[in-house]
Amino acid sequence: MSGSNGSITITLDGTNRSTTLPLLSGTEGPDVADIRKLYANLGIFTFDPGYGETASCESKITYIDGDAGVLMYRGYPIEQLAEQSDFTEVCYLLMNGDLPNAKEFKEFRNGVTYHTMVHEQIRNFFNGFRRDAHPMAILCGVVGALAAFYHDNLDINDPEQRRIAAFRLIAKVPTIAAMAYKYSLGQPFVYPKNALANGPQGYARNFIHMLKSVPAEEYDVPDVLAKAMDRILILHADHEQNASTSTVRLAGSTGANPFACIAAGIAALWGPAHGGANEAVLKMLAEIGDVKNIPAFIEGVKDKNSNVKLMGFGHRVYKNFDPRAKIMKESCDEVLAALGVEHEPLLEIARELERIALSDDYFISRKLYPNVDFYSGIILKAMDIPTSMFTVIFAVARTVGWVSQWKELVEDPAQRIGRPRQIYTGASKRDYKPLSERG
Ligand code: SDX
Repeated sequence: MSGSNGSITITLDGTNRSTTLPLLSGTEGPDVADIRKLYANLGIFTFDPGYGETASCESKITYIDGDAGVLMYRGYPIEQLAEQSDFTEVCYLLMNGDLPNAKEFKEFRNGVTYHTMVHEQIRNFFNGFRRDAHPMAILCGVVGALAAFYHDNLDINDPEQRRIAAFRLIAKVPTIAAMAYKYSLGQPFVYPKNALANGPQGYARNFIHMLKSVPAEEYDVPDVLAKAMDRILILHADHEQNASTSTVRLAGSTGANPFACIAAGIAALWGPAHGGANEAVLKMLAEIGDVKNIPAFIEGVKDKNSNVKLMGFGHRVYKNFDPRAKIMKESCDEVLAALGVEHEPLLEIARELERIALSDDYFISRKLYPNVDFYSGIILKAMDIPTSMFTVIFAVARTVGWVSQWKELVEDPAQRIGRPRQIYTGASKRDYKPLSERG
C-alpha cells in the first residue's frame, strides 16, 4: 500500500463526535483520505455520484494529471511512447510494468502472435447476426462467448491461466473486430498473418491486413497507415479508472472470468459519452456539413434545451487539454497529407469548429477542450474505415489496458468485491394495503 501522510479528522458539526482517518500518499497526484472506517466510526457514508472525487483502487499502471495535461503509462510520458515505441511494446509495458529487453519483447510478441487465431466454430456466431448489426454489438457478444471455448482455463487464481487469458484477449480481439467488419461487407474472413505480426508495427499491420485483404489479393499495408494505426492504438491503450475500466474492475472483483469482464468493458465503452464519442464526432461533423453552419451549431450547443453536445470536447479529468488530442491532431495532418486528402472537408470543419470553440467563453469557462476522440475519427475515415468501426478500434486498443487493470485487481490481496452504497431517499417503512383498500 502507498505511504501514510498524516491524517484527516472529520467532526460532525454540533456534536462532539469526530473520527481521525489516515491520509495516504501515492507516487504522484493528490493524497487520498482512507475512509474505510468512516461508517464504523461515524455512521456516515460519503456521497460522490460518478465517483469523480473517489479513488476506487490503488494502481501502478497509468497516471493522469488533468490540470497539467499529463498522461503516463508506467511512468513513461505518452508523448515519448507515441513517438518512439510500438503498440506491442506498450502492451508489454502495461502488462509487466517496464519496457522489455530484446529477449522479453520477442517472447511477448510471440505470445501475442501465436494466439491471434480464433476457434473455427467462432465463425458460426456471426451467422446469427444481421449483416447490418453494429460491430460493437458483435464484439461484445463474441468476446463474452470466448469463455465458452476456454472453460479449462478460467481459474483466475492461477497465474499461468491469467497469463494465457491475457494473451488470448490481446491477440484475439483484433481478429474478432476484423471479422465483424468483413461480415458487414459480406466478404470472407481474413486470417491473421504471423509474418506481419512479427514485423515493425506488426500488431497494427496485421489488423489492417485482416480488415482490408481479400482471399484473391493481399492488401499491402502502407507504412503510413501502419504507423497511424499503431499510434492510435498506443494513445487509446489505457487511461486510469475511466468508466469502462472501472466496469472491468467491478466485474473482476466478483471473480468473473476475464472474457466476461472484458465484454463488460466493451459494453461500457460503447456509450457516446465515452468510447462511442469518436463515431459521434464524425456524425456531428457530417451534420454540420459546412463551416458556414458552425455558428448556428455552436448556438445550439449552448442552448441547454437542445441537449446537443460538442462531441469530442470535454473530459471528466482533463481541464486544460488532453495530451492525446494534441498528438492525434499532429498525426491527422501527417496522415491526411500522406494520403493526399489534406483538404478533407470534415477536417476543415473540425479545425474551424475547434478554433471557434476555443475562443468562445462558453467552452473556455467550462474548461471544454478537444479530447482524444475529436481527431481520431478523421484519421480513421481518411484510412477508409467506416464510422461504425471507430469505437471497435478504440476497444481493440483498450483491451490491453482493461486486461492489465483486471490482472492488477486480481493480484491485489487487499481487493474485495466492489459494492458501493447509496443515500436512500425513497419511501420510509409502510404496511402493505390490500387491493380492496387502495381506492
Ligand atoms: C473518453 O474518462 C476517461 O478517461 C475517458 C476517456 C478514456 O480514454 O477512457 O478519455 C475516453 O470517453 C473521452 C470523452 C469522450 N466523450 C465525448 O467527447 C462526449 C462529449 N463530452 C461530454 O459528454 C462530457 O464532456 C464528458 C462526458 C466527457 C464529461 O462530462 P462531465 O464531466 O459531466 O463534464 P463537465 O462536468 O466538465 O461539464 C461542465 C459543463 C456542464 O455544463 P453546465 O452544467 O456547467 O452548464 O460543460 C458542459 C456540461 O453540460 N459540457 C458540455 C460538453 N461537455 C461538458 N457542453 C457541450 N459539449 C460538451 N461536449
